[in-house]
Amino acid sequence: MKTDRIQAAEGDITRLEVNAIVNAANTTLLGGGGVDGAIHRAAGPELLEECRTLGGCPTGGARITRGYRLPAKWVIHTVGPVWHGGKRDEDALLAGCYRNSLALTAQHDIKSVAFPGISTGAYGFPLERAARIAIRQTRESLQAHPDIEKVIFVCFGREARDLYDRLLSHPPQSI
Ligand code: APR
Repeated sequence: MKTDRIQAAEGDITRLEVNAIVNAANTTLLGGGGVDGAIHRAAGPELLEECRTLGGCPTGGARITRGYRLPAKWVIHTVGPVWHGGKRDEDALLAGCYRNSLALTAQHDIKSVAFPGISTGAYGFPLERAARIAIRQTRESLQAHPDIEKVIFVCFGREARDLYDRLLSHPPQSI
């Protein structure tokens, strides 16, 4: 698989010129802080209006809306697990966020999508453990969805960027 289908970048996901950006939401889908707050601020009030029609989203699930005032045409809202030490299925739920978000990406014929570090902020998921899950699941999903051309992991800070670059340079079987 061409490895340049997966890249890491640094910066503010709300400014990225990609077809879709993924939001690290909560189960209400009614906004919050962190990247959720940034995306709602940048997209404008119509985003919340559409989110209200969705009736929430379970942890590990994903829902799609328009992007409104964002450069991205779509926002995929996914709900990451809160980290409780790793014994409450957090790894599988986090993998589900990436799997379900990429399934929606393929379903809507979206070619480029950017992810923030789902659950690695307020939800406390350890950064490297989350990055390994994200990369492993994304590689698997890109095999299943060959029409997705580019996935960008948006790192908010140098530490995350260096980590993703290091992990992405490893061959698939070693992640
Ligand atoms: N662009 C890219 N990444 C960002 C941005 C941004 N503008 N703002 C924050 N981040 C990064 C954080 O540094 C972190 O690495 O996004 C990652 C996810 O952090 P959170 O936004 O705190 O999301 P999460 O840990 O999944 O917690 C979700 O927080 O905002 C509430 O409503 C949200 O209840 C939900 C919870």
